[in-house]
Amino acid sequence: MRKITHIRKGFSKLLKEDKLKAVAECVKNPSEFISLLKSFWHSDEEKQKQFDEFSENTISNFHVPYGVSPNVIINDETYIVPMVIEESSVVAAASAAAKFWGDRGGFHAEIVDVKKVGQVHFCWKGEKDTLTKLMPDIKAELLKNTASITEKMEKRGGGILDIELIDFTDKIDNYYQLRVTFNTCDSMGANFINSILENFGHSLQDFFLRQDNLKEDEREVEIVMCILSNYTPECLVKVWVECDVKQLDGVDEKLDGKAFAEKFKKAVDIAHVDVYRATTHNKGIYNGIDAVVIATGNDFRAVEAAGHSYAARNGRYESLSYVEIKDDIFRFTLEVPLALGTVGGLTSLHPLAKQSLELMGNPSARQLMMIAATMGLANNYAAVKSLTTKGIQQGHMKMHLANILNQLGATENEKTLAIEYFKDKIVSYSEVEKFLQLIITK
Ligand code: MEV
Repeated sequence: MRKITHIRKGFSKLLKEDKLKAVAECVKNPSEFISLLKSFWHSDEEKQKQFDEFSENTISNFHVPYGVSPNVIINDETYIVPMVIEESSVVAAASAAAKFWGDRGGFHAEIVDVKKVGQVHFCWKGEKDTLTKLMPDIKAELLKNTASITEKMEKRGGGILDIELIDFTDKIDNYYQLRVTFNTCDSMGANFINSILENFGHSLQDFFLRQDNLKEDEREVEIVMCILSNYTPECLVKVWVECDVKQLDGVDEKLDGKAFAEKFKKAVDIAHVDVYRATTHNKGIYNGIDAVVIATGNDFRAVEAAGHSYAARNGRYESLSYVEIKDDIFRFTLEVPLALGTVGGLTSLHPLAKQSLELMGNPSARQLMMIAATMGLANNYAAVKSLTTKGIQQGHMKMHLANILNQLGATENEKTLAIEYFKDKIVSYSEVEKFLQLIITK
């Protein structure tokens, strides 16, 4: 039964304790609510303050498990990869796949490119030719006006790579765009990119205001917005595993290595022709990628948005991974855009994100792209392998059973008995509940 849903004005100005009290009035048992939420506050006040300040209106913390996948071999280097994820089986699946491929040469990865993109969206009423002719002068002015912002990044090997004029006037009246390409080195670069773009917007308006030879209305530019694009098809990483099909003997009880490889390829091919399967297939990839992205304090929404757009780059949403079998060599590849950072933002502020990076040997952004993509491929391999062999439920149910037993407050002894009992039975909440009642009353 819902109580109050309206909280008085000025909520954001209240002290944290008062915010918690105000919110608690909206639930059935306010004092229970307050003590539960408080029990998740960090015991170290300084640390808690840091968390509170990451966001707004914070009244507690939401814990998500922090696991690791050990012994992940990428380009002959071994990593312990931190994975933050709430879904059971993901870390176990990634670890099993990492072990399997570790015995077969490990994962191979390469960076295709690291370009990021930002846009100045504007409307201008003149002739396109005039704009095109002015572009060299516009570019020079934009670069000159942002030199002080780009200086440091240029010293690190990055900066602005290109400024391109795109004409969208056939779609929206007078609408053009400056598409700007950046290299932001080891930072994700959102602030750097957005600061430059906003500066470009102002400079573009000033530039036109000074063009005395243009007509009155041609001297006006409407800046609609200036913002980075999360679509980063040129911030791309490729990761793959490969082996002779004979090395896949034994993966399935019934199929030899070659037949398993072909069935596995068929499953991946299906995700290239059917959007329903492609979406689930790619979700399995992001189980691994997001877990690393979150563990390192990167932006998983940005990463997912880029990946799903990239998956639809050919006009149809498809699998991000693909399989080739040639001369009995099985090769499974994932190609994915990943705009990640290892310096700045939450990567340095969140104490666990910082530790995650140290655990992986303080990787560069390029290395982190390879690690995150590897975990995507590892999870994708594990999921498709299970689906094409014994099915997904067997493994999932083991973890599901553990969660249900915990929810029902089973003792260690009851858990052992339940695991044995459900070995060959379907797990459901009500069946586990019934089983526990039975052994308790016995
Ligand atoms: C579950 O989180 C992910 C899978 O559904 C992925 C897939 O079907 O490939 C198992």
